[in-house]
Amino acid sequence: MFQEVVIKNKINSDKFLQEVHVFAPATVANMICGFDILGFAVDEPGDEVIMKRTDKLGIEILQITGDEGKLPLDAMKNTVSYSAWKLLSDLGLNESFGLSIELHKKMPIGSGLGSSAASTVAGVFALNELLGKPLSKDELLPYCMEGERLACGSAHADNVAPSLYGGITLIPSYQPLLVRSLPVPKDLVVTLIYPKVEVPTKEARKLIKDKVQLKKVINQLGNVASLIAAIYENDYDEIGRSMQDEIIEPHRSLLIPYFDEMKQIALENEALTFGISGSGPTVMALSKNSLVAEKIEQLIHDFLNSKHIDHLTFVSKINTQGPYLKH
Ligand code: HSE
Repeated sequence: MFQEVVIKNKINSDKFLQEVHVFAPATVANMICGFDILGFAVDEPGDEVIMKRTDKLGIEILQITGDEGKLPLDAMKNTVSYSAWKLLSDLGLNESFGLSIELHKKMPIGSGLGSSAASTVAGVFALNELLGKPLSKDELLPYCMEGERLACGSAHADNVAPSLYGGITLIPSYQPLLVRSLPVPKDLVVTLIYPKVEVPTKEARKLIKDKVQLKKVINQLGNVASLIAAIYENDYDEIGRSMQDEIIEPHRSLLIPYFDEMKQIALENEALTFGISGSGPTVMALSKNSLVAEKIEQLIHDFLNSKHIDHLTFVSKINTQGPYLKH
């Protein structure tokens, strides 16, 4: 339950809508060096939710597309309906309101692109729009995090926060929950490569060691600190130099086919940096312009084809808007 009393007072049924169609963006969590605390949103891909009010009480999932039948249609097991239900309950509307949901997945599941987060954010944002926008994004965030807890057992916010707020987000603290939006250096372009192997976040988190050498922690702290300074100063080379990870990447990269070879291709072709997106297997290269980002996409695409590795690629700017209504 979150802020129940405050939230209930904000409801004005005159503002309710009948139907909304929402897009929410995919995200790159961790930004390589900032495990669980940094992330950014991309313009594409993203998931879409169509939410309608119905006369039948409760929440019903009418349809899910693009998931190859993998996601549950049971409303209490699906992250979209579950988080929307929690919000509806805290608003005191669960016994007077009916909702139907269609989820259209436009990105692979278990890919490291914040797939569950984009769906959850689309659903929570859609419900808030349907109710006439009673809540701020800060108030919606905990409901989105509940979706993450259901999806992978951990309520991390480094996917849901950038998907909800857009741009680059930093989570300086989980208790209390604090989120800070950082400026977005305008020339950054990201190349995303998804080799088609599934890496569930739950499993990828088990690979991480509990104990880390102090020397590695010091290096990582230095990288996070200099990354944030470089973002504020639009220093692209320093952004690239800072985005390195000695703690998680050595373990998780073993699950990603040809990780080292892809990294070499990217770095030899002017990428600012290269690493794992979220918990993988998607990898990402950051570049200073679209030409470099597209060249890296093409070279890695050709390389993976030569190795017969099925894959998808995307080139995108950083999304600064977060979720939006589609018409
Ligand atoms: N920070 C999370 C992790 C993101 O790396 O496990 C999961 O997408």
